[in-house]
Amino acid sequence: MHPFSQFDRHNRLQHLITLEGLSSDQICDLLDRAEHYVRGPGQIPARSQALDGITVGNIFTEPSTRTRSSFELAARRLGGEVINLEIMLSSRVKGETILDTIYTLQAMAVDVFVIRDAEPGVGQFVATHVDDHVSVLSAGEAHLSHPTQGLLDALTIRQHKGSFADQVVAVVGDIRHSRVARSAYQVFRALNVGELRIVAPDGLMPDAGEMPGAVRFDTLEKGIAGADVIMMLRIQKERMQDAAIPEQSDYFARWGLTKNRLKLAKPNAIVMHPGPMNRDVEIASEVADGPQSVILKQVANGVAIRMAVLETVVANRKARQSSP
Ligand code: NCD
Repeated sequence: MHPFSQFDRHNRLQHLITLEGLSSDQICDLLDRAEHYVRGPGQIPARSQALDGITVGNIFTEPSTRTRSSFELAARRLGGEVINLEIMLSSRVKGETILDTIYTLQAMAVDVFVIRDAEPGVGQFVATHVDDHVSVLSAGEAHLSHPTQGLLDALTIRQHKGSFADQVVAVVGDIRHSRVARSAYQVFRALNVGELRIVAPDGLMPDAGEMPGAVRFDTLEKGIAGADVIMMLRIQKERMQDAAIPEQSDYFARWGLTKNRLKLAKPNAIVMHPGPMNRDVEIASEVADGPQSVILKQVANGVAIRMAVLETVVANRKARQSSP
């Protein structure tokens, strides 16, 4: 075991567990690299051989549609091999057990582990135990972080708005239980977003000391007024006690983003959602499918961002091995 750092001894990215501590330059480098891999709808996807000879292992113990398939497609489009491990066990896989899994796969020459887990700390724990040539990438850690989602959200905003400094960004909904919101907060702060708003009912707001610098709003109407970017979030029922789960129709009545409410934002505001959406709970279908929605653009950008992150850690590994 060695102490945890995302950076190797040459200060290059080896693991990606959190966006905390990444500079604006480091984030922009990843966005630029990802931009390279973005193609329009209907175009043949970008490919390279950057992961030739490399094997990526997806270890997801929570459900996933977008993140897992995009990590898999990203690895394949870079010429890598992928294995997907199904570990949907009722008793949690932890401690020695997960390490045994990791060591087993490492012995089969898995080079990059992509880990999603409902428990905090699993990615970091694994990263402190793997060999020097191996990388660990978070695909979502409990309610705490989802770094590649934060990056793809930033890329999507940059594509539509050009810059961050003059943007009003409103993150709306169940922020308290959302890893997407926490990574968004970290990336938007690092990139100096003009005004960052968190908009939620009382029970879904993070604790008072969390997310310093973000402006808090307790109604949807006030929170999205004049916004350039609106990011809607799903209610994370799986992270709540039953009693805390809001009634869906009441929630939509006060907190659902409808076409009418959207008129309060800037006329060219974009609407984002990390998915999976609960239509007519946090977002009306006519908005989700409407002209201001960039939700599927986020999905497409997710593949490009994961290609960029995979390419980066593999290039850094090669650099580490050629000049130890
Ligand atoms: C999210 C997740 O799992 O964190 N989805 C995603 O990765 N795009 C958000 C969610 O589950 O609501």
